[in-house]
Formats: sequence, C-alpha cells, structure tokens
Amino acid sequence: MPLTVITGAASGIGAATRLALHAAGHAVIGVDLRDAEVSADLSTAQGRAAAADALLTRCGGRLDHLVLCAGLGPHVEPASRVLAVNYFGAVQLLDALLPALRGGNQPSAVVVSSVASTQLDWDRNPLATVLDAGDEAAAQAVLQAAGERAGQLAYAASKNALTVAVRRRAAAWGAAGVRLNSVAPGAVETPLLQAGLADPRYGPAIESFKAPIPRRARSAEIAAVIAFLLGPQASYVHGAQLLVDGGVDAAARPTRF
Ligand code: NAI
Repeated sequence: MPLTVITGAASGIGAATRLALHAAGHAVIGVDLRDAEVSADLSTAQGRAAAADALLTRCGGRLDHLVLCAGLGPHVEPASRVLAVNYFGAVQLLDALLPALRGGNQPSAVVVSSVASTQLDWDRNPLATVLDAGDEAAAQAVLQAAGERAGQLAYAASKNALTVAVRRRAAAWGAAGVRLNSVAPGAVETPLLQAGLADPRYGPAIESFKAPIPRRARSAEIAAVIAFLLGPQASYVHGAQLLVDGGVDAAARPTRF
C-alpha cells in the first residue's frame, strides 16, 4: 500500500486528494493546523521543522508520495503569512522529505501552485531575490512597501516562486529517482475561494474571473490530476507544471507557454 503525505489535508483540494488517494488504496498521513494525523503550523520555521520531524518518524524514514496543498489566499492578513505558508511551508517540506522519498516505491511529489504563478515573470517578481535567499524578514519588508497591493503580490509572487522552485529541483530530484511536478489550478470551489469572494477587496475580481470553461472547478477535478501525476501513468512526467484552469492561461497568453 503506497504511503502518501498530504499537507492541507483537512479542507478543499487537500481533502479531495485524500479521498481520491484512499479510493486508490493509499495510506495517507494528513498534515494541517487541525483535523489531521499531524497537526502543524507551516507558517513558522519551528512549525515546519516539527512537521518534518513528526512525518519522518511516522513514515519510518520511507515515503512513497508527497502532495503539498496547504496554502492561503490573497485576502489573508498579514500578507507575510501567505508567503510563509505558500512558499516557505512548501519548499522546506519538499527538501526535508526528499531523503524519505528516495527510499520510496516509484516515488513522486506534486506541489499545488496556481494559475496565478503565470501572472508574474520570475525576472519581474519583486520577491524573487529574497525568496531565493530564503530571507523571510526581507520578504516581509518588500510586502510592507507594497501597501494595499501586498496580499495580491504575496499570493502571485509565492506561487510564481513555488513553480520556479519545482522546476529548479528537476535535475537533482530526477537524479535522486523522485518525480516532482506542480499543478496550477484556476478558480476552485473551496473555503479559500469563498473567503476571497466574501472579501470586498478581492471578491469582485474573483467574481469577474471567467474561464473558457464557464464555471469554477470542483476540488475533485484537481485531485484527479494530482493522483494522475503521482502515479505510474505519469512515469515520464517530471519538472512539469500542469495547468488545470479551464483554459484561462491559454486564452490570456496564447503565444506564451
Ligand atoms: P482550503 O482553505 O480549502 O484548504 C487549505 C488548507 O491548508 C486548509 O485545510 C488549511 O487549514 C491549511 N493551512 C492553511 N494554513 C496552514 C498552516 N499555516 N499550516 C498548516 N496548514 C495550513 O484551500 P484550497 O482552495 O483547497 O487550497 C489548496 C491549495 O490550492 C492552496 O495552496 C491554494 O493556494 C491552491 N489554489 C487554490 C485555488 C482555489 O481557487 N481554491 C486556485 C489555485 C490554487
């Protein structure tokens, strides 16, 4: 039975992924603030370290799959918390769990980024340098300078940096025998999206965000793609970002891919 760790397993896409993987015969260790096998706060360095330690102990140093779903939307304040969970919470667990994945059976990992990752070019990502340096304090200063744009910047910049972090690991993870990919959803009906819709600063923009497939995704539709990327049918897919956005990116940037 494959052993899989899912962060953000208590809600939305993470919870749907847990259901899909259970149905496919996986044993799942969920990580979340609450309602999970491992309770941890991925917004702090101590919380991430404690989560990694707990997971390595629970899996006995051998893990087959990892899915990183935990994340916060642009409405959450302070914006530095969005960056802390979406970027640092993901990359630190990726790196901490690679040794265990190396010992897994046909091991693979999927990181949930966002179509928002394509809204910024890395060369124009104002947080690129400080995120590369792993400097959370400096990142906080950049966000403070962004004023009322801080939430949107934290979200798009964290997801842009996360996708870059996945792509940059392709060589080392490939050599280690562990496949690593990202999924970039468009708008998905989850509590995160509902909270953004309810926020007067972000609600109208989210409401007006129309995909060529004229509806929002269901969590199960993202979970199905995650399950595909984790499994043997995706055995030569590595370092890729799979857009699951109902055609948003293709419509917005048909000549850039
Ligand atoms: P959600 O709010 O339903 O689930 C997110 C989960 O992450 C929650 O269970 C929450 O408790 C957990 N989490 C948040 N902060 C945490 C922390 N500090 N430590 C541990 N766990 C924490 O949201 P949803 O929509 O399922 O989001 C999952 C991922 O999908 C996120 O990374 C999000 O950015 C991404 N995404 C969501 C989209 C959407 O429209 N819902 C669109 C594109 C990407």
